[in-house]
Parts: sequence; structure tokens; C-alpha cells
Amino acid sequence: MKKDNYVAKVKKEIDLYKKMLDLIDVGVHAIDENGNTVVYNKKMMEIESLKRADVLHKNVLDLFVFQDEMHSTLVQALRNGKQTVHAKQTYHNYNGKEITTINHTYPLVRDGLIQGAVEISNDVTKLERLIHHNMKNKGNTRFTFDSIIGESPAFLEVIEHAKRATRTSSYVLIVGETGTGKELFAQSIHHGSSRSSAPFITQNCAALPDNLIESLLFGTQRGAFTGATDQPGLFEQAQGGTLLLDEINSLNPALQAKLLRVLQEKCVRRLGSTKEIAIDVRVIANMNEDPVDAIAGGRMRKDLFYRLGIVTLFIPPLAERKEDIPMFVAHFIQKYNELFHMNVKAANDEVLALFHSYDWPGNVRELEHVIEAGMNMMMDEAYLSLQHLPYHFRFKHGESRPATKIPVIPLQHTAATNTFTYTNLEDSVDFQTDMERFEKQYIVHYLEKMDDNISKTARLLGMSRQSLQYRMKKLNISLRK
Ligand SMILES: Nc1ncnc2c1ncn2[C@@H]1O[C@H](COP(=O)(O)OP(=O)(O)OP(=O)(O)O)[C@@H](O)[C@H]1O
Ligand SMILES: [Mg+2]
Repeated sequence: MKKDNYVAKVKKEIDLYKKMLDLIDVGVHAIDENGNTVVYNKKMMEIESLKRADVLHKNVLDLFVFQDEMHSTLVQALRNGKQTVHAKQTYHNYNGKEITTINHTYPLVRDGLIQGAVEISNDVTKLERLIHHNMKNKGNTRFTFDSIIGESPAFLEVIEHAKRATRTSSYVLIVGETGTGKELFAQSIHHGSSRSSAPFITQNCAALPDNLIESLLFGTQRGAFTGATDQPGLFEQAQGGTLLLDEINSLNPALQAKLLRVLQEKCVRRLGSTKEIAIDVRVIANMNEDPVDAIAGGRMRKDLFYRLGIVTLFIPPLAERKEDIPMFVAHFIQKYNELFHMNVKAANDEVLALFHSYDWPGNVRELEHVIEAGMNMMMDEAYLSLQHLPYHFRFKHGESRPATKIPVIPLQHTAATNTFTYTNLEDSVDFQTDMERFEKQYIVHYLEKMDDNISKTARLLGMSRQSLQYRMKKLNISLRK
């Protein structure tokens, strides 16, 4: 009876240990003295894409194909007591998925005898892919100043400043709305500088969790955390060249502080290491919001801004340099003529007029997409016309609607319920005028609500500050003070 109790207790404990093993994020595979699997946890199933039932109590040599049995680190540990640590393996699992693991294999010794062996696997597939991806970006500069188009004075001035920046290695901050060409400028600066034959590496700061971006930027030393190998960070990889940090305002402020130290001291220390490595890297940072807003909103450290913004380039939104539109249109038509083997001459006047009155929240990228989409709709016409443009584009813009007269519906705002309601129906006013009136009332209402604070209102309405300012100018809205 006593013995039964003891067995039940041990069974219960083993059960609990098994449950715990299934909760941890590393794969565990243990074999007994005969090479049969006794532990195969959940993470291991995930990594190797095998079911526990297919592995448990089976011999490893029957289950996995090795060139020779001593190629199995588990068998080596069992036969020779050999311990293998930090062994990196890339292989295809049972599902055909390529995975990379870092394994440690230990013999399990009890009473001086080897009684089994265990393999502990860290799945580093994702990290590996990221590093690979960044390596591929090395030296892959596509754009030079020759690819930058624009003739408006405001834009020419930015180009001029950017060109001057190629002569030095000072840090550069590029500010502009999405699609204004920040990446284009960063690449052109690198290409035009004496660093052009060294690597150009881009890292988006918004795309990754903090710990990953930290190891990516600064590198890791073996043992810094489970699974860490000796890995140079992007600063080391960009040695002699340029590192573009995209969406810098998305970087966690604690990491911004760390970045600032690296920029100041021009040295990096890999995670888990005490060794300082001198670096010679020009950093270019991009951001898609006004630095003043980003600092006020706590998304950008002021000290980092001062350090990075030695040269700051503000790229104006397309809505503020509409004189550049015809040049872009001609350029993109030419580009897609070549790509699609077409022979389109130009865009007709209606299209140009529509483009001129639109405010392009997606900037040059949006313009390019509209032209590409339009040219996809053309047969053998010589001119791009309204009917070719994507439906959503034609009709999200009031002026492009067929000139149907619709009743005017002035809007009345009810403060108590914060709703806008239509009142006072009249006849014969066009859609565009109505929409503008609505937009004006709408913006004025929220500006008042936000005490005329443009940044706050823009955030509330989900638009950029520049875009709100542009709309205010267009609709003739001035602040009350
Ligand atoms: N001045 C320009 N001349 C030629 N092409 C341009 C210009 N500005 C932008 N483009 C084109 O517009 C597209 C978007 O540019 P880019 O990727 O540099 O924008 P971005 O500012 O980095 O945008 P995001 O903030 O969304 O990353 C690219 O295809 C680029 O070639
Ligand atoms: Mg970009």
C-alpha cells in the first residue's frame, strides 16, 4: 500500500514536470540509455513538425536519418558523454519548412553512468531570416539623385541641401509624409557620398519587437540570452557605410537612449559583451511626422533629435508642390510604357486638372499607383483619360463626379449628441461645394473642441498635421485667436 502511494506520488510529479516542459519556449528531446525517446515536449513538436506519439519510445536512429549514427549529437552524448553546445543547424522539418535552431546536447549522468541524453533546441528561424534579409539589403542601392524628380522651388531646395550633405558624414534626419521619397533621398545621399562602395543597410524600427531590434542593431555575444550566438549587429555590418533607420519615431525611448550613446561615442557593444567596437557609420533616420509633434507626444527623445537632426531635410508633401505633378505624370507614364511595352503619349487635360485639385495623402507613391492602375485599363489609346482611372480614385474626389446636381444639404451640429444632421434642403448646388462645406464645418468643430490645437485635432481626426494644415488652407479656415 505504502509502495502504491509512493508510485502514485512519483507519477503525479512526473506528470507535473511534463506539463511544465510543455509550457517552455525551447524544444526538449531526451532519450534513455537505449536511445529511445522518453521526453519530447510541445515546442520540439512544433520545431520538428512531428507528433509526440510518433517519436515517444522510438529509437532516434530509426526515426531520424543520419549519414552515420555518430552524426546525431544525441547519440554522441549517449555513447561518448560528449557535450555539444551552441550548435547551429538549418534543416527542413517534416513539413518541409526550413528551420534554424541552436542546440545544446548533454549526456544525462547518474551514479557515474550515462543513462540518457537530452537535446535543447532554440528556434531562431525568425531571427535568422531577419538577419539574412538585412544582409541582402547590403549595397543594394537603387536610387541616386538622378532618379529624383521635381522642379518646384521648395523641392529643389531640399535636393540642394541633400546634395550638400553628401560631402560630410554628419547624421541626417529626413522628415516627410508617407510616399514623399524619404527612402529615395536616403539612398541618393549614400550613393553620392564617399561611402558609396560600402554597405547601405536599412532597418525599419516599427516592424519588430524591442528585444529583436536591439539584438539586430547592436549584435549579440554568445550566451547573452538563451540561443544567442556571436552575431554582428547592423552597425557593425554597415561599417564604413550608411545605416538607414526608418520610422525612428517608432523606436522605444529606452532604445533611443541607447542609440544616442552609440551615436555619441561611435562605439557599439554587442548584447552580453563588454568589448567596445569602434564604428564608422553614417546614420540617416526617417520619420513621417513632425519632430515637434513626436517630441511633444513622447515618441521621440529630444536629445536624440538634436543629435540626429544635425542635417534635417523636410520633404514637402505633394499637395504643397503641385507644380511638380505634370513632371511626375510624364515620368511615370514613361516608366510604365517601358515596363508594359505601351505607347501612351500623355495624360489628357481633364486628368491633369483632377490630379491638380486632389490633395494626395499618399503623395508621390499614390500618384504612381494611380498612373500604373490607369495604364492597366488602357487598350491602345494615346492619352490617359478619366475613364481609365480607378473608380475609387475618380469618385472619392468630388470634382471628378459627373456634373449631377444634388440638393444642398447644409449640416447642423448638435452639441448635446455631437452629431451632424442635414437641415434646410435646397436645390441645385453641386456635390463638391457641399462636401467642402461639410468638411469645413467638421474641421472647425473639432478645432474648437481641441482649443485650436492643430496637432491634437489632427490626431483626433486621424490625419497628419501637414494634411490638416493643408485642408485648413484650402478651405480658408483660420484659427480664432
Ligand atoms: N521626387 C521623386 N522622384 C521620383 N520618384 C519619387 C519621388 N518621390 C517619391 N518617388 C517614388 O515614390 C515611391 C515612394 O517613395 P519612398 O519609398 O522613398 O517614400 P517614403 O517617404 O520612404 O515613404 P514611407 O514613409 O511610406 O516609407 C517610390 O516608388 C519612389 O520611387
Ligand atoms: Mg520609406
